[in-house]
Amino acid sequence: MGPFTVNEEWLEAFRGFLESSTYAVAFTGAGVSAESGIPTFRGDEGIWREYPPAVYGNLPGLALAFLFRRRRLARLASEVLTTLLEASPNPCHHALARLEREGPLRAVITQNVDDLHRVAGSMRVLELHGNAFRLRCSRCGLRMDVDRDKALEARDRLLQPGISRRGLLAALMEYAGACGACGGRTRPDVVLFGESLPVDTMNQAMEEASRCDLLLVLGTSSMVYPAAVIPRMALESGAKLVEVNPNASSISSRAHLRIPLPAGVFFASYLERLT
Ligand code: OAD
Repeated sequence: MGPFTVNEEWLEAFRGFLESSTYAVAFTGAGVSAESGIPTFRGDEGIWREYPPAVYGNLPGLALAFLFRRRRLARLASEVLTTLLEASPNPCHHALARLEREGPLRAVITQNVDDLHRVAGSMRVLELHGNAFRLRCSRCGLRMDVDRDKALEARDRLLQPGISRRGLLAALMEYAGACGACGGRTRPDVVLFGESLPVDTMNQAMEEASRCDLLLVLGTSSMVYPAAVIPRMALESGAKLVEVNPNASSISSRAHLRIPLPAGVFFASYLERLT
């Protein structure tokens, strides 16, 4: 990504913040997965530009798209599946997993649904917006993992040219089949617009935010509430805030250290210096 130079002073300052912390927490957003090939939501390259959230970010809108814009919906679904299935962790995910193993990181609070923190080895991951690799039964609430092979088959069905409504439904059901326990309908366990966040997870995340002495705010515009209370709560409780984001965000002016770089680029250098 781009001709970014990692300034030694930023690395030094970052290490300084880590060394003086006994309880650090990371708060991550779409930007940490950008270098894993997953587009962000906002900005010029963002998903919401081509697929407005008023239609594609909520259940009623998606139901309308199913009825009236099925080819576009099929394209979106196949693109999302391909992107998620092909993505793998980048140095930012790896560095966070290592900081948890070796200290002082205690938890990752993420708005991402791509599962990459877990794949990289992070153990305590609080997923505020759910996980696209998990399904939830709409009847009994049981949660189950997505079968990645089935998701691939669903993706291939979605790519059929001139897909019919029946074909689209079959593909979606291939990805989100019937509940193994009660036979009810399942849906991706992700939070769409207008839906509530998982209460327990949000409570734990707020507890972490008030408890930490250092919050790493990585790759998020920190604009979407309620998740965006996390950095504000941490600041109110006296934590230091370090931001890694190539662009200014709504929290940048309050950061104690701002590193204006892509997270993968910065953490690749950070990890390199450790070896
Ligand atoms: P946004 O798309 O709002 O913001 C992405 C942020 O990542 C921006 O501030 C970018 O400058 C920054 N960024 C881009 N590339 C980066 C890189 N390589 N390294 C570091 N930062 C980079 O995404 P979020 O803040 O995650 O919610 O958005 C929050 C929520 O809005 C999402 O979880 C989603 C969306 O609506 C739901 O789907 C419920």
